[in-house]
Amino acid sequence: MIREQTKTTATHQELNIQKQFMEKIRKTNPNLQYNLTTFGCQMNDRDSEKIAGMLQEMGYTETADQKKADIIIFNTCCVRENAENRLYGNLGKAKVLKQQNKNLKIILCGCMMQQDIVIEKIKQSYNFVDIIFGTFNFYRLPQLIHDSYETSEQIIDIWKEHKEIIEDLPSQRIFPFKAGVNIMYGCNNHCSFCIVPYVRGRERSRLFHDIIQEIENLVADGVKEIMLLGQNVNSYGKTLEAKITFAQLLRKVNEIEGLERIRFMTSHPKDLSVDLIEAIAECEKVCKQLHLPVQSGSNDLLTKMRRGYTREKYLELVHKIKALVPGIVLTTDILVGFPTETEDDNNATIDLIKEVEFFSAYTFIYSKREGTTAATMTEQIPEAVAKERFNKVLDVLKPIALKINRSQIGTRQKVLAESLSKNHDQLLTGRLNNGLLVHFPGTSEQIGQMVDVDITDGKTFYLIGKQGG
Ligand code: SAH
Ligand code: SF4
Ligand code: F3S
Repeated sequence: MIREQTKTTATHQELNIQKQFMEKIRKTNPNLQYNLTTFGCQMNDRDSEKIAGMLQEMGYTETADQKKADIIIFNTCCVRENAENRLYGNLGKAKVLKQQNKNLKIILCGCMMQQDIVIEKIKQSYNFVDIIFGTFNFYRLPQLIHDSYETSEQIIDIWKEHKEIIEDLPSQRIFPFKAGVNIMYGCNNHCSFCIVPYVRGRERSRLFHDIIQEIENLVADGVKEIMLLGQNVNSYGKTLEAKITFAQLLRKVNEIEGLERIRFMTSHPKDLSVDLIEAIAECEKVCKQLHLPVQSGSNDLLTKMRRGYTREKYLELVHKIKALVPGIVLTTDILVGFPTETEDDNNATIDLIKEVEFFSAYTFIYSKREGTTAATMTEQIPEAVAKERFNKVLDVLKPIALKINRSQIGTRQKVLAESLSKNHDQLLTGRLNNGLLVHFPGTSEQIGQMVDVDITDGKTFYLIGKQGG
């Protein structure tokens, strides 16, 4: 039995205040439409589901056409410079729409807004933006919209930290059959390249009971697969009074009846315990796939990145995982072009990729983020050199992906059918338990169902199959 602290009344009060604003707006604004664009990771995707949930509660309906929208909202990301540039490109177009329709509300939120320099820039150059809020107070959207209708001034509401977690916000999920579930917010690590801790704050775990309750509700609503979300799920529970580990949480979630699959991300290698590996092996609903960002195979760079593990420690972990969970598919994040990176460092990363045999890697070219420690390092890598190393990394990954995909040929696997294939409407696209992507003949009625698929062929980026009889 895991004892838990209870929710504070403050969070209930906050929620009630916002409910009153939602109600008020719903009564006064019939038939209005919103358009929401989300940049960044699953954290933002999940926040956007709640933002959409609140907007719908206020009576807004969604439109894909910005020209028809009464509210245009951008949930932003700042992990790399190109994510920020995408927002500015979009804002140029939004400005034209605002000139044509004075009643249009333009709203910015998310990680990028937690940076002072961004706020300054928007105040100076984008004064047509109506509302700006951050990652800690997005639940106040109803109140901010209400206030914005009462004033023509730009409203900026950015908080630097917020310890309380506001539960029970309405949510408009993207998929009926799979869902992301936050288990924690923020990050307590100090990777020298990364802006996330500055814009998402200190680590806060959700109460165990709230997580289980949410998943039970999702399952009752038809969800088959959940993705437990956090910047570092392996340190789940450390900030709670009732001590509970991520491995314990996984075992509890595994007991939820009707749930078929459990995925999670992201796992930080320095906090991955043997207990967790055993939980992955033992829990039948936990998918046999692990995303374990390594960033680099060079010890010198890993130290400078402050990742908290060495190449040897990482490899040792991988060996343990492969021994305890045979057939597990490993994926990772790779950062290329970190300041001071040499050709040898890059080769060390390539050797490590070959040794581990990652099925895939989100590979990123280092982007200097103001405020991080790495931004003060003078030896930045020229873009052309970084690009060349980036391509070298991609080239090593491809044959490994092909090899792993081909190793599935001849097997029969349970697949969650997720959508019609983008290029062929008589093909369904789905994922195997280990995360591999498969295309197979099927009909749209089967989307959201678990089906048996015989794998008949394997390419670099996908498998081909047919439904088993
Ligand atoms: N919490 C996760 C990562 C979140 S950010 C973890 O620790 O694994 C996702 C990925 O973006 C990181 O793994 C890293 O590869 C990349 N990233 C972070 N900061 C970056 C930067 N400044 N430039 C380029 N890529 C970056
Ligand atoms: Fe960023 Fe590191 Fe935290 Fe991941 S663990 S969010 S890379 S600081
Ligand atoms: Fe995610 Fe980007 Fe924020 S990666 S946490 S949305 S900075």
